[in-house]
Amino acid sequence: MTAKILDGKAIAAQQRQLVKAQIEKLERAPGLAVIRVGDNPASEVYVRNKRNACAEVGINSQAFELPANTSEDDLLELLDKLNNDDDMDGILVQLPLPDHINSDLVLERILPEKDIDGFHPYNIGRLALRMPLLRSCTPKGIMTLLAHTGIDLTGLDAVIIGQSNIVGRPMALELLAARCTITVCHSRTRNLQEKISNADIVVAAVGKPNFVKGEWIKPGAIVIDVGINRLENGKLVGDVEFEAACQRASWITPVPGGVGPMTVATLLENTLQAALFSN
Ligand code: GUN
Repeated sequence: MTAKILDGKAIAAQQRQLVKAQIEKLERAPGLAVIRVGDNPASEVYVRNKRNACAEVGINSQAFELPANTSEDDLLELLDKLNNDDDMDGILVQLPLPDHINSDLVLERILPEKDIDGFHPYNIGRLALRMPLLRSCTPKGIMTLLAHTGIDLTGLDAVIIGQSNIVGRPMALELLAARCTITVCHSRTRNLQEKISNADIVVAAVGKPNFVKGEWIKPGAIVIDVGINRLENGKLVGDVEFEAACQRASWITPVPGGVGPMTVATLLENTLQAALFSN
């Protein structure tokens, strides 16, 4: 078998066009505050990509580039100000934050209706109870990709590798809501290979290049690779051995050009959704 490619780049481009068309009908352009603290080089690239995408679809993004020694209190004060600013429909705090800032406290300070990352406990709780409001961008973007396969997900066995608040946990809630049977694996999981080899859907969010071997994939499985790892030779690879997995999977996301563009397109979709709350 040679897997079909889930072309996140193309699907994200379509999604951006849909968002753009809807924004053109609004009386006021949506506003998004994008906050970065410190100078993490990867965050700088991600934030630039997000702001460029905002500009493309007509979202007014306003950047807040704060120094690494910004105090937690100052950051919370900025969030309070943005929460009360009617021109700001969404607020995004790029993670990771410096160690002296409590991320949980910061994310919980954002008003749930402006939490376009879907990280606030209220929004995670809504998803857990199957009444989602704003949904985390990467898992929601992956659900859009899965919809493009045309496959009915009901009853499928899904294995998620990674238990982070950003991907693994909300991904589990998304797939559970789609009536999959969920296994969430992490660094203490026993018999990982066996679990992966029984999965109809594998979502790899480990952050280790080529961690999931192609031969572990069940023939016909759908493989979603969330990893973005740069090798010493400069090449970007995912968490899954791509070529080998292609020989077994029915569908697979490439890296780059799979999940990454969907995260950004979904952020735009969520900002539009937040703007519609107040329009
Ligand atoms: N850091 C890594 N992924 C994300 C994301 O989706 N949103 C934010 N805000 N920070 C991140």
